[in-house]
Amino acid sequence: MKNKETDNLLKFIDASPTPYHAVKNIAQMLQKAGGTELKEDEDWHCQPGGLYYSIRHHASIIAFRIPKQFKKSVSAFNMIAAHTDSPCLKLKPQSTKKCANYLQWGVEIYGGVLLNSWLDRDLNLSGRVSYEHKGQIKHELISITEKYFRVPQLAIHLDRSVNDGLKLNAETQMVPVLGLISDDNSFEKMILEALAVKGLKYSSIKAVDLMFHDSQPASYGGLNNEFIYAPRIDNLAMSHAALCALLNGKPKNNIDLIALFDHEEVGSESAHGACSNFLNITMERIVSSLNGDREDFLKMLPKSFLISADMAHALHPNYSDRHDDTHRPLLNAGPVIKSNAKMRYATDSISASRFMLLCEKAKIPFQAFSCRNDIPCGSTVGPLVSTRLGISTLDVGNPMLSMHSAREMAGSDDHGKMIAVFNELFNE
Ligand code: CO
Repeated sequence: MKNKETDNLLKFIDASPTPYHAVKNIAQMLQKAGGTELKEDEDWHCQPGGLYYSIRHHASIIAFRIPKQFKKSVSAFNMIAAHTDSPCLKLKPQSTKKCANYLQWGVEIYGGVLLNSWLDRDLNLSGRVSYEHKGQIKHELISITEKYFRVPQLAIHLDRSVNDGLKLNAETQMVPVLGLISDDNSFEKMILEALAVKGLKYSSIKAVDLMFHDSQPASYGGLNNEFIYAPRIDNLAMSHAALCALLNGKPKNNIDLIALFDHEEVGSESAHGACSNFLNITMERIVSSLNGDREDFLKMLPKSFLISADMAHALHPNYSDRHDDTHRPLLNAGPVIKSNAKMRYATDSISASRFMLLCEKAKIPFQAFSCRNDIPCGSTVGPLVSTRLGISTLDVGNPMLSMHSAREMAGSDDHGKMIAVFNELFNE
């Protein structure tokens, strides 16, 4: 069914083609709610009752709300972590390619892309451009949505065996076609137009982080609008749910915090990924800005709780044998608690039981997922963050299909359910 929470999610996804845009949109929503940005290279003065956020490299954001009655002996952190990035085709630094009269640009495969899903889709190009202006380097986000590009599929007449199993070469067969070669530098002109900086020459553009993405707007689907079809549901949906709960939150004793990281899809090892010091440094600085010391911070950790929110695998009707037959999450049937004995998910009985209680309080049903033993299990930022902080952690996510496709699918009723459960955490 159509509903307000999901309407807002679809708008957020359309407005967030890259992690940079997602973070910018999240910061704007925080600002609108009275949130204050804290820069990492400045002094922090947090106040009880305040809403704050900190951004690293345009791509990861941590936002938090301090309870009105902050007491360092009682208070702890209630946290939700998710990721802002999604698998995509990312432009290589200098890779203009020409074949016959076609102009192409080489791409790198970012994350675990379902390659076939990018074929014959009308693609837009968005991201960050770093350029020199009056002796200074500036960084600007661009989103080119009025031009469409394509990775065209080979006609079946030229490969009669294609339906026996499509195998794509990631280097040679995934190169987007930009257009036909002309002598008017249209690609350069397009980037300059998108930047809209007066008098800027293309030679001033020093580097780009640009990504191709599906151009089709997110939509409802199914006979009764029971589905949503959209790119980047993994994991903008959980980033959005965490943000909504933070904005709704009225914490009594604990500091509510959301940590939305870039680079999850490529392993999280970067200066602003989940393996970086961004979260623990932010947490420590919050405590010290509230007149606590390192000892106070360390004493808060065992009392704290982390929900690692990342989308989960719903049962696929055409591949029902891919699920353990006792763990078959269904769309629109509520949050999926993810467990794995090898700790690819951080859930244990301590964190699972706590989440189940939140669901009961919110009157929301929950489901369980455990991988088949003969299929390797995916992972999330949950195990990485809990390893570094020693905080009790739960892995959970809403069920979906087509994960990592250029255009994914989920249930339209699950988003509001997850927000309702997160609301319970953020009212403690
Ligand atoms: Co994910």
